[in-house]
Amino acid sequence: MSLDPRRARLWQAMDLGPLWVERNAHAAADAATGIAPAPGAVRSESFDELGTRPAEGAARDAAPHRALPIALPAGLRVQLPAAGDARAVAIARMDWSELQKSVAACVACPLCKTRTQTVFGVGHRGARWMIVGEAPGAEEDARGEPFVGQAGRLLDNMLASIGLSRQGETDSSVYIANVLKCRPPGNRNPEPAEAAACEPYLRRQIALIRPALIVVMGRVAAQSLLATDATIASLRGRVHTIVVDELAIPVVVTYHPAYLLRNLADKAKSWTDLCFAREVYARAALAG
Ligand code: URA
Repeated sequence: MSLDPRRARLWQAMDLGPLWVERNAHAAADAATGIAPAPGAVRSESFDELGTRPAEGAARDAAPHRALPIALPAGLRVQLPAAGDARAVAIARMDWSELQKSVAACVACPLCKTRTQTVFGVGHRGARWMIVGEAPGAEEDARGEPFVGQAGRLLDNMLASIGLSRQGETDSSVYIANVLKCRPPGNRNPEPAEAAACEPYLRRQIALIRPALIVVMGRVAAQSLLATDATIASLRGRVHTIVVDELAIPVVVTYHPAYLLRNLADKAKSWTDLCFAREVYARAALAG
């Protein structure tokens, strides 16, 4: 099969060309040996050289818009706003318009003093895929949209490589939001208190969207969303679960695009994560 030139440019943008050969080789080896991968291991499937399943990308599979009916792991903490936390309780009841106004006027942490504007989120409010990043950078702070700088361009290419986009309102359209809605000065990591103050907003966005899958970009966002201090290495390649409004939503973790711009070799691992996310999503579609 010949390589679609548009898709080829995307592979190039992600430095993924050579990896594909390697992945096919692994798939062939799996088939030849009949050895099943370890449970939970990240593995490739038999995608063709365009990176699509024989029956086309999972993102385009017809499936009802709902989350995986997965069993909650024992001991999973269901985070609900404490009854005494009036602000979080109020946010948990907001509609999109109220939420957007509340974020724009937020003074819950000191970042309100240094921001140019809040960065709410972008994309399809009925999205089946949700992407969660860390915090706005300088360009996002200036433009009011997440992931519009260099890292954002890489993110768009990563999404396109698995048939997704921040544009439109189809099953392939994602919603993108950050853990923090305001830029930390100098692009420093979010302080735990800042993430805690912003958490009700992200939770409400997730509750309103009810995505079938969340892909978290980077250690800081993953640790914050999953309430863990585990390393990104240990978080990758597994399906995590968060519970929002009694909905168990699968979460897959990968590297942050800004990290990938500095560590080109890890783009290969991130591609593995995206394929894994697509598998998890496809399982959700089948279960639906
Ligand atoms: N990095 C993020 O995590 N989010 C953005 O919106 C931009 C850069």
